[in-house]
Amino acid sequence: MAPALVETPQAAATYAKNGTGEYKEAYIGGPKAYRLDAELKGTEKQPPAKYPKYLPTWDSEKTYPPLQPFEHYEHGKDADPKFLNLLQNAQVVDLTANIGAEVHGVQLSKLTDKGKDELALFVAQKKVVAFREQDLADIPIQEALDFGGYFGRHHIHPTSGAPAGYPEVHLVHRGAEDTTARDFFEERTNSVTWHSDVTYEKQPPGTTFLYVLDAPIAGGDTLFANQAEAYRRLSPEFQKRLHGLKAIHSAIEQAGNSKNRGGVVRREPVTSIHPIVRTHPATGEKALFVNRQFTRRIVGFKKEESDYLLKFLFDHVAKGQDFQARVKWAPGTVVVWDNRVTAHSALLDWDDGQRRHLARITPQAEPPAETPFQ
Ligand SMILES: [Fe+2]
Repeated sequence: MAPALVETPQAAATYAKNGTGEYKEAYIGGPKAYRLDAELKGTEKQPPAKYPKYLPTWDSEKTYPPLQPFEHYEHGKDADPKFLNLLQNAQVVDLTANIGAEVHGVQLSKLTDKGKDELALFVAQKKVVAFREQDLADIPIQEALDFGGYFGRHHIHPTSGAPAGYPEVHLVHRGAEDTTARDFFEERTNSVTWHSDVTYEKQPPGTTFLYVLDAPIAGGDTLFANQAEAYRRLSPEFQKRLHGLKAIHSAIEQAGNSKNRGGVVRREPVTSIHPIVRTHPATGEKALFVNRQFTRRIVGFKKEESDYLLKFLFDHVAKGQDFQARVKWAPGTVVVWDNRVTAHSALLDWDDGQRRHLARITPQAEPPAETPFQ
C-alpha cells in the first residue's frame, strides 16, 4: 500500500527523553513521579500537602465512553451588565489595559444564580479574573463541583489525576521534592506552552475555574493571552482570509504522552475540527481559536501552507505581551478564565522541590462557531 499523503497526528508524535517531546505538556510528573508519603507527611524541607483530600489518584482500570453532544446554556447571556449582584461590594483592579482583573470582596461559592450569570459575562469580558480570599478549596469537593456545574457540563479529563471519587476535578500537581524541572531544561530552553484547555473536544470548556491548594513561595505563575484582542490586531484583509477556515485539534499526542509516562488514558483520544475564528455567544466578540498544543492542521491546506499560517498565528499570540497578563497565585486564589477567548501557559520556573498543587473545574460549553464576516 502506498504511504498516506496526509500525515496523521499520531505519526507526527515524537517523544524525547524526559518526556519532553514535540508537545511540551510533559512536565507534570504523573503517577510514576508521585510520592504519596512525601505528600501526606512532608519531607525534611517541605511541609505536608495542605489539602490531602485533593491529592491525585490515577485509576488505570476506570475508563469512560466517548463524550456525547449536549446542549450548552450560556448563562452570560442572562447577565445584567451592571454586575450589581457580583461586584456590589467588590474591589476590582484591572491587571492590564486589555486583559485581566483582580477582585477582592466577593465569595464565589456564595453567589446567587444572578451573580453567577454576571460572573460568566464579567469573565468573558475581562478574559481572566483572579478572585482572592476564596473558600472553594475549603468547602467539600462536591459543593465546589455543584457550584462549577452551573456553568456547563463537567469535563472529565482523559489523562489527569483526580481526587479519589471526583473524576471531574482536574488536578495540576507537582509534589514535594519533585525536581524534574531540571531534567526538562536539559531538553528545552523554556517551559512556555500556550494553549486553551482540551480544544480537541467537540465542545471545549467555557467559564473555567482553577484554584490553588499549595504553591511555591515564588514561581509557578500562569500566563494568559486575550485571543479576541489577538484577532483584532490582525488587518481586515487578513481577518477576511481566516474567515471560514477550520483546523484539526488532536488529543492523540497528549494521550500518547500520558501512556509513555506510565499514566492513564481514561477515554480514547479524539480529534475535532473547529473554526479558526470563533464568536463568543455572550459578548459577540470574535477570537482566534488555535493553539500550538492541540491544533495540528488547517483543513484544505497543504501541509506546508498549514504549518506556515499556524506558525504565524501561534507566534502572534505568544509574542503579544501587550495583550497578555501574568497571574500570581496566593493562598485562597481562584482564577476564572473564559477558555473560548483566552490562551494560557503554566511556567516551570522553580526547581527546588516546593509543591505546586491546583484543582480545575472545567465546565464544557457550546461547539465553537463563527458568525458571518462583516
Ligand atoms: Fe491548561
